[in-house]
Amino acid sequence: MTEQKNSGSGKMWGGRFSEGTAASVEAFSASIQYDSRLYKYDIAGSKAHAAMLSANGVLSVEELAEIEAGLSAIEKEIDNGDFEFRRELEDVHMNIEKALIERIGPAGAKLHSGRSRNDQVAVDFKMYLRDQCDAIIELLDATRKAFVLVARRYLGNLMPGYTHLQRAQPVQIAHHMLAYYEMFSRDRSRMVDCRKRLNLSPLGCAAMAGSGLPIDRVHTAEALGFDGITANSIDTSGDRDYAIEFTSTCTMIQLHLSRLSEELVLWSSQEFNFVNISDKFCTGSSIMPQKKNPDIPELIRGKSGRVVGSLMTLITLVKGLPLTYNRDLQEDKEPVFDAADTVSTSLSIIAELLENLDFNTKIMATATEGGCMTATDLADYLVMKNVPFREAHAIVGNAVAYCLTNGKELPDLSLEELAQFSDIIVKDVYDVLSVEGSVNSRISAGGTGIVRVEEALVAAEKQLGIA
Ligand code: ARG
Repeated sequence: MTEQKNSGSGKMWGGRFSEGTAASVEAFSASIQYDSRLYKYDIAGSKAHAAMLSANGVLSVEELAEIEAGLSAIEKEIDNGDFEFRRELEDVHMNIEKALIERIGPAGAKLHSGRSRNDQVAVDFKMYLRDQCDAIIELLDATRKAFVLVARRYLGNLMPGYTHLQRAQPVQIAHHMLAYYEMFSRDRSRMVDCRKRLNLSPLGCAAMAGSGLPIDRVHTAEALGFDGITANSIDTSGDRDYAIEFTSTCTMIQLHLSRLSEELVLWSSQEFNFVNISDKFCTGSSIMPQKKNPDIPELIRGKSGRVVGSLMTLITLVKGLPLTYNRDLQEDKEPVFDAADTVSTSLSIIAELLENLDFNTKIMATATEGGCMTATDLADYLVMKNVPFREAHAIVGNAVAYCLTNGKELPDLSLEELAQFSDIIVKDVYDVLSVEGSVNSRISAGGTGIVRVEEALVAAEKQLGIA
């Protein structure tokens, strides 16, 4: 082996340097403290790259065997916690490559032929993200299933639906639960799309212009489970769209979770008392013995700030960055890791919480009887009797004002009382003034009438394969 000319700085890239790196710079620029979690992907990528180099005559069969054995041994060491990651080697790629060279010598020093850390980090990151997409899709399915089970359990039970957090119209609890099912179903399809778009291999784009060595990008792409290869090496080297898309999908999930969390916090308050969150998911107060706090929804709501922050970090990172790779891009990993971890733990705990959630159906049903919530039904009743809607709205507004002054609800009003507002109102009005009548009249597509909700529930169960 010829004397390595990289000893001036002791770095793998040190040939043109005469001085070592300042300790402060090493500390500042290292990413090993967080990118070590990519080691399995890095090793898989290196093995595929070596196999391709060997198939194309750049490495001998013996050299390939040495590289494969060396990488497997290193992987085992890392698995067992016996591997020492060194900060002076900057990142996971250099740590593993250096260990390979130390272990097997010249064959190891040939591994980096025809690739750069720029395509290497991208291939690792994409493989990591692909796995994260799969894991989050699975967690989304568990969450969707939890909503469907709750919807099935409470089918036929009613609650107030809200706009502006004011009682608006009575709805099925199941309908409200299926609203979340829809949100998380959209998130699922976003995650599926994101995975599809990112699953093209960057390996072989090398630094940014491609390679002059006889490499075969399709070979490595297939070996690593990619659907194909990226088309343009200049784009590939600096592309982080996929990381932004993933984190934006995570953000959407966490936003949906935060809305659910907010409702759970409200509903579990004494003011609402709509739900009981199981003791397993609450904590007490260190000073107030009577307290049972909904910490889990509160934390999920709070953690949405982290995920939004991660997305902002990534977007700001890429904004205005000239092509192609810039070291700025090393800052992409921590926000992505944090977003993936936060969304995964939040989803798994919310699914568990939902399984242990009890609705106080009596209190919820009673709540539908206050607030003149069938006012729209009365207006619709008049519309069906040919009163223009705006006129009907005003008539019912007067009836509601009368209820408020007299401490009554619409169904409590006698026919004489109702007739003061419009002589078109006759006895059949009581069919629409009742809460049940109101809910079950709303059979427009996507509405809260029991038939529609049951259809939606069956469709969801079918989608999840639990019918
Ligand atoms: N640790 C680096 C990163 O995460 C790897 C790529 C370094 N490339 C370079 N040209 N310095 O981005």
